[in-house]
Parts: sequence; structure tokens; C-alpha cells
Amino acid sequence: MYREISERGPINKVTLWDGRQVWLITGYEEGRRLLADDRLSSDRSYDEYPTMAPHLGAPAARKLVLVGEDPPLHNHHRRLLNPEFSLKHARALRPDIERIVNGLIDGIEEIGAPADLVEHFAAPIPSLVMSALLGIPYEDHAFFQAATAGIMQGKDPAGTEAAAAELVRYLDRLVTAQEEERGESLVGRLVEHVDTGELSHDEVVQLTMVLLIAGLETTSSMIPLGVLALLDHPEQLAALRAGEVPAVTAIEELLRITAVTDFAGVRWITADIEIDGHLLKAGDGLVISSTMVNRDERVHEDPYAFDISRGSRQHVTFGYGIHQCLGQNLARLQLEVAFETLVRRLPGLRLAVPAEELRMRRTGTMQSVERLPVAW
Ligand code: HEM
Repeated sequence: MYREISERGPINKVTLWDGRQVWLITGYEEGRRLLADDRLSSDRSYDEYPTMAPHLGAPAARKLVLVGEDPPLHNHHRRLLNPEFSLKHARALRPDIERIVNGLIDGIEEIGAPADLVEHFAAPIPSLVMSALLGIPYEDHAFFQAATAGIMQGKDPAGTEAAAAELVRYLDRLVTAQEEERGESLVGRLVEHVDTGELSHDEVVQLTMVLLIAGLETTSSMIPLGVLALLDHPEQLAALRAGEVPAVTAIEELLRITAVTDFAGVRWITADIEIDGHLLKAGDGLVISSTMVNRDERVHEDPYAFDISRGSRQHVTFGYGIHQCLGQNLARLQLEVAFETLVRRLPGLRLAVPAEELRMRRTGTMQSVERLPVAW
């Protein structure tokens, strides 16, 4: 359906689930130009902001720090967080990530085939990484994984609101504990900004929640979707295993082709914008499809073909502009280590159930696989 729409041109009007008409952008150049335009707002508290699924209408989902803020407040929060997610910081985490990933493969070998790659690999990787980074006890992972999933995949606004309230209560206690006794963690360092008056206690709680939501579901969904794409292309899986294509190159194609978040940006327009003969009027909603922007034939040759040797970073899976993914260095590193280790240590990796039995999960703006039983 997307393909049909994009064949009409890079800028189209479409109707959302709630009957609302919005602009759908499917062109690379147009998408990036718009994401860099300061007449676009990410502020979800306005009715003009398009709601992409019923559960995202919950008050908690319409009041998100950082990702739902416009400048100047966005600049303020981003400036405090940027240093924590620099390439240098991410690289320093490589030994920890390698240890985590290898430990999980040891566990999978112990369980024996068939093992569910979602439960025993894809979900725990970001969960272990984020809990170590933020200073959240990993023994609580069942709770915080369920709470973030409940927010992102809620069936209705009430479910999302309840999951968010529970997570806020939990993180509030965690931040309070850090205020009383500083730990060596990102939350501990954010609390230092409370002392200087740059952040309030509640802002630290909200920022921690956004980091957790943004860091868990995305990465854990990318891994099984990437594995499926590779299993569908055995010759490319073999090239990755043989080291002919380095994992660092292969993951860019996995990111381009699967774009777990589907949308590089959902925005509303604060002042009229003229672009390529279209008038995007103040108050209009706008969604930029990464799935389609990443397949713009003006940018990629044979864009629907999956080719891990392509290695092109010309995709918007991490968004673009001021809201471009804060955690992309960390996400790339986790994916690189996960895929490199998985194909090396489980060289006979294959599905343990017929592909038709796999259930895809699509929730508003995210897609994933529910379970991925594998043998090796
Ligand atoms: C494969 C994994 C990931 C994908 C596909 C992804 C995708 C994205 C996208 C598309 C945006 C832009 C949203 C917008 O403009 O409205 C974004 C923003 C963000 N991401 Fe990621 N992300 C991933 C992993 C992570 C990780 C691991 C973290 C944290 C550790 C993270 C933290 C954030 C934050 C905090 C923002 C908001 C930035 C801002 O508004 O300034 N993400 N991400």
C-alpha cells in the first residue's frame, strides 16, 4: 500500500485510523528537508499532533519530555544528555556489551534447541545494557520490560496510562534513592543537575522513563526482524558469518530495510510551508515514513533489494534533525555485537518452526515478532 502511495509522488495526503487526514512523506530529500524545518512541532500536547494509534492518545503518551518537546526546552534537555551518548561513551561500553551478548548465547546453548531468540536474546540485550547504563536493578527487568511494552503496545489509552503511572512510581523511587546516595550511573549524574537547578526531580524521572522506553523496544525488535531478513537470504547470512561483510556494514542494511519504528517523525505544522508545489498549512499533521524514505529510488539503486554489503547510511531509521536518535551510537553497537556474535557462535542458525507460524506484532508505530524459536 505504501509503495502504491509513494508511486504517486513523495508527498501525499492519507487518512489515519481516526479519520484524520495528514501529510505522508515518502521521499528521502523531502523527508529530511521537513525534519530540519523549525516550523514543525513534536509537541504532542496540542490537538494538531496526529495520534498514530488509539493507545497513544493517553495523557502520558502526549506529554513526553525530550522527544515531545520543541526548542528551547528541547535544546536544554538534549544538551544535558548528549555527552552521555557520544560515540566515545558508546565505544567504552563495547566490552560490557560483548560480555552480555556472549553470556546470553551461553544461556541459549544451555537451554538447547529450540530456544526463543526474542525472550533469551533480543529482549535481554537492551534490557541489561540500559539497566547498567541508567543504574536500574536488572532483577526488576520483568517489571520494566512489561511496563515499557505496556506503554508502547497498549490496547487502549487506559492501559497505556496505567502502565506509564506504574513506571513513573517505580522510577520516582529510584531517582529519590539516587538523590540520597549517588551511584555511578546516568541517573546519578542527572541528579547532579537537580543540585544545580538545571533539572527538577520530576524531569529526571521523566527523562529516565523516555530513555527506557526509547532504548528497549526499538533495539529488541530490530534483532529478530534482522535475523528473519538474514534467514530469508542464506547467501548473505553466509557472507556475514564468513566475515566477507563486516557486521558493522550489515546492520546499516538491516536498519534501512526494517525500520522498526516505521516513522522517522510524526509532527504538526506551526506555520504554512510550501514544498514541491504543495501547501502544508498551519495545523496540518505530518508523518514521515522511514519505511518508504529508506526505499527512495532516487537515493538507492534497486531499493527493495536486501543487500548487506550496501552499507549505506542514507536512511532515516534513527530520524533526522534535532530529534535524531540520541541513542543511535549505543543502538548500532548493540546490533553490531549481537549479529556478529550470533552468527559466529550459532553457525547453523535456523528457524525451529515453519515461518507461517511466526506472528508479527504491529502496534501503531512499531513492528516486531512475538516469538522467534530457533535451532542451530
Ligand atoms: C534500533 C534502535 C533504535 C531506533 C530504530 C531508534 C529510532 C529513533 C527515532 C526514529 C527517533 C526520532 C523520533 C522523532 O524524531 O520523533 C529516535 C529518538 C530518540 N531515541 Fe532512538 N532509536 C533506537 C534506539 C535507541 C536507544 C538504544 C536509545 C537510548 C539509549 C534511544 C533513545 C532515543 C531518544 C532519547 C530519542 C529522542 C531524541 C530527541 O527527541 O532529541 N534510541 N529514536
